[in-house]
Amino acid sequence: MKFKGRDIIDINDFSKEELLYILKTAKRFDPAFVKSDRSNYTIAQGKIVALLFFEPSTRTEQSFRSAAQKIGMGIIGFNDPEATSIHKGETFSDTIRIMDSYADVLIMRHPEALSAKKAAEVAQIPVINAGDGPNQHPTQTMLDLYTMMKEAGKLDGITVALMGDLKYGRTVHALSLALSLFRVKQIFISHPNLAMPDEFLKILKSRKVTYEEYERLPENLEANFLYQTRVQKERFKDLKEYERIKDKFILDSSFKKYLDRGIKLMHPLPRVNEIDPALDSHKNAIYFAQARNGLYIREALLALVLGRINSR
Ligand code: NCD
Repeated sequence: MKFKGRDIIDINDFSKEELLYILKTAKRFDPAFVKSDRSNYTIAQGKIVALLFFEPSTRTEQSFRSAAQKIGMGIIGFNDPEATSIHKGETFSDTIRIMDSYADVLIMRHPEALSAKKAAEVAQIPVINAGDGPNQHPTQTMLDLYTMMKEAGKLDGITVALMGDLKYGRTVHALSLALSLFRVKQIFISHPNLAMPDEFLKILKSRKVTYEEYERLPENLEANFLYQTRVQKERFKDLKEYERIKDKFILDSSFKKYLDRGIKLMHPLPRVNEIDPALDSHKNAIYFAQARNGLYIREALLALVLGRINSR
């Protein structure tokens, strides 16, 4: 297993063993597992991370910023490309090449699918994909797996339901692929126009994954986790279609009975109106804890790609 110098672009580039190793490494940064108040700021002291956010973000950008600083890194970059030379017409690959020479790790979010791969082809330093259009969001997937592992104590043998925008949602694409490496039953719940794309279902079939598809939330849903998602307004070509579909999959206070039955509710956030805030205080509504876990995963990933943490 080699992580030093590695790009994190596509969840398919990681084996089950590698994913489990990343989850194990993240535990070293999680106060739930590390009781002593040990500071980690010497781990990557003197290293620089460049954050290139061509698309808005709260959690991913801020948790990477926090993670980098917690392990002692300096930060450069932008979240408003219009305030850079891109505004003057600089090409994507020139921008990447320049940032590559000023930093030790590059973290990029971009509206185009496969843009992270393009950046990695130009950059010498490791590139971490923080979301490439509708395609993937591998570090979100790792924190999702970490959350499931922490809550259920295992991944093999669980059932995960994915709901909402399964067509445009990059989080559910990468998560479904990652779960397919484990013995996990997957349940897809969406409007038919927002169903999980065939290219992903084909992979699941080839990996002999058990999955079911529903057009509404089954009354008797049996699952360890329900992963709710936002309808991705910004990816719709026809906003009228968005308006027609957007409110079809809202979890209102009547969802409490599912939570009472032990189903844990996850969401990558941001939510718009798809989870009623009245559910937030339920112990099985775990989306804020999930977002917090992103910090530990990102500390682990930065330390791993910099080769600053030993394999154990
Ligand atoms: C998601 C994203 O950007 O893909 N958010 C996140 O990174 N936590 C989900 C979304 O935007 O709906």
